Amino acid sequence: MFQKRIFSGVQPSGNLTLGNYLGALRNFAKLQNDFECIFCMVDLHAITVWQDPKEMARQTLEVAAGMIASGIDPTRNILFNQSRNPDHAQLAWIFNCVARVGWLNRMTQFKEKAGKDRENASVGLYVYPNLMAADILVYKATHVPVGDDQKQHLELTRDIAQKFNNDYAAELFPITEPLIFGAATRVMSLRDGTKKMSKSDPSDQSRINMNDGPDAIADKIRRARTDPHPMPDNVAGLEDRPEAANLIGIYAALSDRTREEIVTEFAGAQFSAFKTKLTDLAVSVLGPIGSSMQRLMADPAELDRILDRGAVKARELSAPVLDEVYRTVGFLKS
Ligand code: TYM
Repeated sequence: MFQKRIFSGVQPSGNLTLGNYLGALRNFAKLQNDFECIFCMVDLHAITVWQDPKEMARQTLEVAAGMIASGIDPTRNILFNQSRNPDHAQLAWIFNCVARVGWLNRMTQFKEKAGKDRENASVGLYVYPNLMAADILVYKATHVPVGDDQKQHLELTRDIAQKFNNDYAAELFPITEPLIFGAATRVMSLRDGTKKMSKSDPSDQSRINMNDGPDAIADKIRRARTDPHPMPDNVAGLEDRPEAANLIGIYAALSDRTREEIVTEFAGAQFSAFKTKLTDLAVSVLGPIGSSMQRLMADPAELDRILDRGAVKARELSAPVLDEVYRTVGFLKS
């Protein structure tokens, strides 16, 4: 009933990491052949925590460069920054009135990001998932490729769509399907295998950035935390070994193979030998992407034009949906 359409977003809130690449960007590039795709630098989401205004524009262009360098073709897909299409924020307000406080209170990402000082978190951070639902549903997107950490937010998107459809007795929004695939749907920190690799981690050693050079990549992998045992000979042997599981998952994803194959290949090996191979692999995949990002960043005006054109196309798709929502809600419209 709904036309197949993909939407996904990435926050321009710092360096893109290997987690963003393996959990999201690389999958976006794979999907572009089979779907109509809309990819968004979600700057409105980024400012739910403080962002330096001078850095915002540069980071937004850098995420765009990262997407293009990962293989996303801006002539075939829509690429734009969220604030350029005000329809997201308008639908988000309506969703603020659909979502229940109890639903938002259960969001683990809010709890993590707000930390102990919850009273001091921005209100935007609290209603962040409603804006995310609006991003997706303002295009009636049917599929959303993301990393594993966004699962709960996508469940909320489905709840919002369902409640809106029920409340207004309209089959207006699709019930969106998450697309979470690949061998590394949750890349963990190199310093702590129980924590997600994140662009906001204060330690740069905890992550590989998409634009890290070969020396930085080698250094970070060499110093990545491990345990004292050699590699196991089957995947079950990775249980309770979060660091080993993480490095093997990264290796599998980077080489487009399964974790089973990698475990078999390195059974009984020492971490030092495995890390050397992993470094070579990571450099061979990320090296060209980093150089391509650098080339694209040398012409920020061109990147900005791409986003501007993308926003025009995005709005052509969202305007009729927002119009339909306004009429359904009973707003007078000229
Ligand atoms: P963000 O900017 O944190 O991350 C962008 C994408 O990268 C994935 N990702 C990871 N995947 C695997 N391992 C990791 N360590 C890792 N870190 C990040 C994320 O799952 C995501 O797919 N709320 C979203 C942005 C957003 C959005 C949307 C996404 C806003 N509106 C609508 C989808 C649809 C976020 O903060 O992603």
